[in-house]
Amino acid sequence: MSKAIMDELVDVAAAPYRSAGRFPWHFARGKLTYDPIFGELLTRGLIPDGAHILDLGCGLGLLSSWLMAAQDLWRRAAWPAPWPKPPRLASYRGIERGRRDVARASEALRAGTVTCGDIRSSPFGAANVVAIFDVLHYIDCASQDGVLERVCEALTPRGGLLLLRIGDAAAGWRFHVTRLVDVVMTSIRGARWQRLHCRPLASWLAHLDALGFEVTAVPMSRGTLFANVLLIARLPAARSAAVDGAPATPSGV
Ligand SMILES: C[S@@+](CC[C@H](N)C(=O)[O-])C[C@H]1O[C@@H](n2cnc3c(N)ncnc32)[C@H](O)[C@@H]1O
Repeated sequence: MSKAIMDELVDVAAAPYRSAGRFPWHFARGKLTYDPIFGELLTRGLIPDGAHILDLGCGLGLLSSWLMAAQDLWRRAAWPAPWPKPPRLASYRGIERGRRDVARASEALRAGTVTCGDIRSSPFGAANVVAIFDVLHYIDCASQDGVLERVCEALTPRGGLLLLRIGDAAAGWRFHVTRLVDVVMTSIRGARWQRLHCRPLASWLAHLDALGFEVTAVPMSRGTLFANVLLIARLPAARSAAVDGAPATPSGV
């Protein structure tokens, strides 16, 4: 992965957060630089072109900013030839319960919207890509199951994709590091401490399989001591229930 391109992507993606304040700008820069998931989404070409993205527990909405930055570099012909063409964002909707994050994201986002809500009860509408990065362990297991069932209903019949990152509770000391850093980051971001509900990777895989997803699990902790795994979960057309193509709640980009 080219460091110069990654640095440029981070600069462009984080720049809009300056207007939201010093903390969100620094936080965005740090997260986009050191969390391997953002680079991997692009280099692996995981998000389809023209994606209608629903981002659950989206925080600052960094995914939207990252994909817009990638489009900027592509348009400037600054995109590395070996990387797949970055996806155009057809729409982006984030749901986040932290009011401060919602305000900061709304200030910074160039594409899409972030609404304040709880993913356990907020309507999902329809989407062809659902992203849930490092979120489900904040809600209890029954609620996790409920969210995943509603994700199935929200995914559109053609190529419904769930990108779910979890911490593998069976990963020994790496999992304990992951949980410790989570607690520290939660307090740095000013959110209240809450009990975490973590599952082993095998349990996530079994649950997604029961819901009809075809899943590929990819370690997603490169360069860190974490136990994070990205579950790339595709829902075959027969199991998808919602609107075909456009989301039920359109959002301009
Ligand atoms: C570790 S952060 C990840 C943020 C974002 N997904 C990312 O990767 O940058 C977890 C986020 O999930 C949010 N969250 C946790 N439980 C939630 C819930 N029940 N409804 C909505 N958001 C929630 C938190 O407020 C926090 O912003």
